[in-house]
Amino acid sequence: MAEQATDMVKLTIDGVAVEVPKGTLLVEAAKKIKQEIPVYCYHTKLGPAGLCRVCLVEIEGMPKLQIGCNTPVADGMVVHTRNEKVETGRSMILELLLVNHPLDCPICDKGGECDLQDYAMAYGRGASDVADPKQSKPKGVDLGPTIVLDEERCVVCQRCVRFDDIIAGERQLVVKDRGHNDIIATSTGDPYRHNFTGNVTELCPVGALTSKTYRFKSRPWDLNRTQTSCTQCAVGCQQFADVRYGTLVRTMSVESDDAISDGWLCDRGRYNIGYVAAPERLTQPLYKRDGEFVQIGWDDAFALWANAIKDAQSAGKQVGALGGGRLLNEEAYLLQHVFRALGVKNLDWRTGRQLQASPGGAASYEALENAESIVVVGDIPELAPVLWLRAIKAATRKGARLVRVGACGQAPSFAHTDVATAAEAASAVAPQGRVAILWDGSNLEVGKALAAAFAARETLAYIASEQGNARGAEAMGMLPSDGGSDFTKIVADAAGGAYGVLAIFGANPVRNAPNAQDVRAALDATPFVVVSELFMTETAQAATLVLPAKGAYEKSGTVLDIAGDALPVNASLQAPVGALSDLEMLVGLAQHFDLPLPTSEELGAAVIARAAKPLAVTLGDARYATAHALAPSDARSIWDGGGTCAHDERIVTLRREPAKVGA
Ligand code: SF4
Ligand code: SF4
Ligand code: FES
Repeated sequence: MAEQATDMVKLTIDGVAVEVPKGTLLVEAAKKIKQEIPVYCYHTKLGPAGLCRVCLVEIEGMPKLQIGCNTPVADGMVVHTRNEKVETGRSMILELLLVNHPLDCPICDKGGECDLQDYAMAYGRGASDVADPKQSKPKGVDLGPTIVLDEERCVVCQRCVRFDDIIAGERQLVVKDRGHNDIIATSTGDPYRHNFTGNVTELCPVGALTSKTYRFKSRPWDLNRTQTSCTQCAVGCQQFADVRYGTLVRTMSVESDDAISDGWLCDRGRYNIGYVAAPERLTQPLYKRDGEFVQIGWDDAFALWANAIKDAQSAGKQVGALGGGRLLNEEAYLLQHVFRALGVKNLDWRTGRQLQASPGGAASYEALENAESIVVVGDIPELAPVLWLRAIKAATRKGARLVRVGACGQAPSFAHTDVATAAEAASAVAPQGRVAILWDGSNLEVGKALAAAFAARETLAYIASEQGNARGAEAMGMLPSDGGSDFTKIVADAAGGAYGVLAIFGANPVRNAPNAQDVRAALDATPFVVVSELFMTETAQAATLVLPAKGAYEKSGTVLDIAGDALPVNASLQAPVGALSDLEMLVGLAQHFDLPLPTSEELGAAVIARAAKPLAVTLGDARYATAHALAPSDARSIWDGGGTCAHDERIVTLRREPAKVGA
């Protein structure tokens, strides 16, 4: 909506007329004319703190320089962000900040992208009047499993402390001691540990907080940067994949990504990247002969696979295909397309606990943070971490009432209400306004209860996923059709010997399904099981043929997020020689049957059409009623699962033992 004229303020910044909404801070108003006011403690998402004073500006009529980060605009204000007086003031501030700062730049991970380095170059004098030796403080302090603190580089801007409080709702970090002895530490002395710690390394304007995974790995000018969507959960945060000479060395948030991540990443999306270069990555098809896997070529693999399907169908045996929730939309589409073309109706993406993907017409993530009430069911903070940050924002800064139903993990530090049932939740929410429901999609009875309890309210439903592209797999058609069997029935029938071939794509049901033992028995009773995987998972070990797959950073396409938006996935890496994408595998299989395949344009159009088609799914949809019974809920963590996290030695230390079923 256009701003009302009375809500706008006219001022002059560096001689340029600017019109901005009332209440805008000078630091933001200056951005309108592409003028940067330097900041350390201020951050757009954290707001002002008024601690560092580097943002000094001159305002005509005011005797002293003012801080641009905490001064709102006023009508007729005349501001100078660049003149001798301002630059002298900033130079003095820089000199004070550098009194004890070490001259570490050549060995500092922040070198080349450090605000202190940049502003010292822009405003610093190059020499100091302080003759006393610099105060030394501990370096390389182990702050927790993910972060190292260099105490003497800290400029005490408190961005890290404020992130922990305002954004993450954790309040673990504090400023300890006083004056020049200030240091950052956890209030309890315990290791700094939660799901969003890595964000403080990006917020830190200097090299005081660095990621253990990235320390001493690269200089920014050695990095090739690709923007992509994180595929490690269904939120779909935008991120930069930074690659140094063919190795993925870090992922970084996209600050402008207001629509999805709000500029943050969870620690899984940030730190779970070492698996990409893990030595145990599969790089050649493996065929089980006399109980032992032997390496074979791709041509032989496709021929064996195709012949197994032909043999099964001519012998009257069933064929089934499972998975898709970890594939790209294009791959999930082709998976169902090829198998349906072969007459296979036994298709299902639901190979874990999740029975239902996010409903059609889901509202945006921004709509979630503007809801009057938020109802959380299941392990949402672990399954959709950055979406949980929106819930925190709504509850702590926008006045939403937060209600948790049943066991939802650790109680948050801010105001909330815990209830036992959906009906109680309906009484606990605000009497007016929209209700955003965040549900893990795993217990259909809960879904039905939620649907009934909130039938009379305007609701926004968001279903978090165990698999990053569950919604995409569902929208692309990886569900049984025309009398085909769902996962539960496939497993039951296969255990009875009804199946000749089962193809499993990017799923590990032997580990993650509630009926994992039944799945194992079903695979053992099926003569030909083909599994597409990055690693020799529990399910791959039970296979006849294992196909080495490309990972998400090694292929391009799209995924659907919880809100139903198609997001781009862009390759930033070369896959290991020998690995193929699931799409390439399906093309290889189709060629053995001379199946006509869509051109890339036709494939893209089909994906767009299905992605846009609203899924006629509501909470607790009856379509899922035949699915398997669920095991009792077990708390999950962002680090759980038998997939990529299990193959990164740094991440293994973050996993709980024994690891729980999960993504
Ligand atoms: S560690 Fe970094 S972000 Fe935290 S107060 Fe120090 S300089 Fe600021
Ligand atoms: S919340 Fe999900 S999409 Fe976002 S960074 Fe974490 S794992 Fe990736
Ligand atoms: S950025 Fe203004 S006081 Fe720190």
